[in-house]
Amino acid sequence: MENYNLLDKDLMPKHVGIIMDGNGRWAKKRGLARSFGHKEGMKRVIDIVEASVELDIKSLTLYAFSTENWKRPEEEVSGIMNLLVIFINNELSRLVNNNVKLNVMGDISRLPDLSRNSVEKALLKTSKNTGLILNIALNYGGQTEIVRAAKAIAEEYKEGKLDLDKLDEDSFADYLYTKGQFMPDLIIRPSGELRISNFMLYQIAYSEFYFADVLWPDFSKDEYVKAILGFQKRDRRYGGV
Ligand code: IPE
Ligand code: IPE
Ligand code: MG
Repeated sequence: MENYNLLDKDLMPKHVGIIMDGNGRWAKKRGLARSFGHKEGMKRVIDIVEASVELDIKSLTLYAFSTENWKRPEEEVSGIMNLLVIFINNELSRLVNNNVKLNVMGDISRLPDLSRNSVEKALLKTSKNTGLILNIALNYGGQTEIVRAAKAIAEEYKEGKLDLDKLDEDSFADYLYTKGQFMPDLIIRPSGELRISNFMLYQIAYSEFYFADVLWPDFSKDEYVKAILGFQKRDRRYGGV
C-alpha cells in the first residue's frame, strides 16, 4: 500500500492540478519513440485518478493537451488523440463505478471525431456521479479560457441579462470550465520544467506549486503522496500575516 498514512487527513488539498509533462523525454532516455512515453504516461493517469479517489480529493485537473500542442508532428498528435479513446474504452466503467464525474476543459470541437465522440460518451455516462470531479484539459489554454469567459460575459451584458455591478472575482469564475469547483490548492509539474505553460491562469492565483524532477511516466502514487506532503507543510497566508 502507499504511504497514505503519512498524510494529514485534515489538510488535504481539495483540488489538485497536474501538468503531465515529460513523456517524450522518458521515451527518449530509453531509445524509444515519443509515443511510448505517452502510452506509459497514460498508466500514471489511471494510478493518480485512483489515488485521488482513495484520498477523497474533490477535483483533479489533468493537463492532457494544450492549445499549443497542435504544433507537434501530426503523427504525435494523432497518437495522443488515439490514446484518449483507448483510455476511455478501458477505464470508463471503472470511472463510473468509482463515482468519478468527468469534465472537459477546452474546445473539443477541434478533436478528431472518434476522440470527441468517446469524450462525449464519457461525459454523459459520468454526468450523474457525485465523487471526484476529473477535469481533463484537452485543447486547453488558460488565456483562451479567460477570453472565452469575457466573451460570454459581454454577450450576457448585451442581452441585458447581466448586472456589471454584480461581476466580481468569484462570479467571473462561474464562466470558467471549473465553475462550481474549489480553486486549485496544489499544482504539480513533473519533468523539471519550471513554468506554467498556459495552465489555469485565472484559477492559480493562490495555488501552491510543487515541481518534481521525475518525468510523468515515473510519477507514481508515492510521488503523489510526496507532493501532497510537501503541500501540507506550506504556510498559506493569502496576503495576510
Ligand atoms: C507530455 O509530455 C505532455 C503532452 C503534451 C501530452 P511531453 O510530450 O511534453 O514530454 P517532453 O516534455 O517532450 O519530455
Ligand atoms: C504542457 O506541456 C502541456 C501539457 C502537459 C499537456 P508542454 O510540454 O506542452 O509545455 P512546454 O512546451 O514545455 O511549455
Ligand atoms: Mg513537455
